[in-house]
Amino acid sequence: MSFIIESSKLTKKFPERVAVRSLSLNVKKGELLGLLGPNGAGKTTTLRMLSGIISPTSGSAQVAGYDIENEVEDLHEVIGLLTETPGFYESLSAWENLEFFANFYADLDVDYQIEKYLKIMGLWNRRDEKVSVFSKGMKQKLALARSLIHEPEILFFDEPTAGLDPRASREIRDLLMKLKKEGRTIFLCTHNLEEAETLADRIALINTDLIALDTTSNLKSQIFKKMVIVDLESVNNHILDTVEKLKFVVNVKQKDNQLQIELIDFDQNTPDLIKALVESDGRIKGVSKAKHSMEDIYLALIKSDEGEEI
Ligand SMILES: Nc1ncnc2c1ncn2[C@@H]1O[C@H](COP(=O)(O)OP(=O)(O)O)[C@@H](O)[C@H]1O
Ligand SMILES: [Mg+2]
Repeated sequence: MSFIIESSKLTKKFPERVAVRSLSLNVKKGELLGLLGPNGAGKTTTLRMLSGIISPTSGSAQVAGYDIENEVEDLHEVIGLLTETPGFYESLSAWENLEFFANFYADLDVDYQIEKYLKIMGLWNRRDEKVSVFSKGMKQKLALARSLIHEPEILFFDEPTAGLDPRASREIRDLLMKLKKEGRTIFLCTHNLEEAETLADRIALINTDLIALDTTSNLKSQIFKKMVIVDLESVNNHILDTVEKLKFVVNVKQKDNQLQIELIDFDQNTPDLIKALVESDGRIKGVSKAKHSMEDIYLALIKSDEGEEI
């Protein structure tokens, strides 16, 4: 397996605090990795280290085979970067801004590339207007155009849809899917759970430390594999008592005529649970594995990271 991004014990300490601690992760070529975490979790700091903007305090990383500290110029040829608060020359036009940045790259057909990406971003008709009159969404699209102008194979995007209206957010998410289909590797920082779930192949959840790194469905089954949902015609105290007394039942929650039961082992205990329910005259309408949203996973993992029980 070859990884296009590999970090080993990447750490960033600021004078006041540790922002990222011993982060080891890897990203496959063509993969979209969602770096997810609450505000202040160290997402932007991680992205800035991996893209060669700031140096780690300790640890190391290679991106496209380049060392993030010692081969920054080569690194910048192959990555596209969308920062948290992209800056432009406000008194220059959209075209002029892109031209300025595109000229840093050797052997680039600047006019062709600018036209291509202004069109993709829906900004072609506004190309001669000053950036100062652009809305937040337009500026974000221009920033994306800038990050793509040299056709980088690896993209580092920091909260690309933060603060945008639903339509602009949707357009940007569609663009991310398109870029992924083109085979590009995308490192996406986000605190938006739905965005991470719908776009990411795998999710790295961080909160200074790495908390989890896996696909959404694996994260779900790891955390919630022991929960069973039983819908009954009606729930009475006798039924509730019976369930609570079963040795393999860890926890029971009642919601109207539904019982949410945490078992020691889903596969082994479910048949015995159903038998006990039937014997206590429970009329079962349905039994299912608990379904959980990305928010459930996120909250459970963040809670357990803060030392609380799930
Ligand atoms: N340049 C800096 N100097 C000092 N502290 C910083 C600096 N940049 C980030 N931090 C701190 O590091 C932590 C992580 O920040 P950041 O990486 O921006 O988090 P996120 O992007 O996940 O919200 C925060 O506590 C933040 O205040
Ligand atoms: Mg950030």
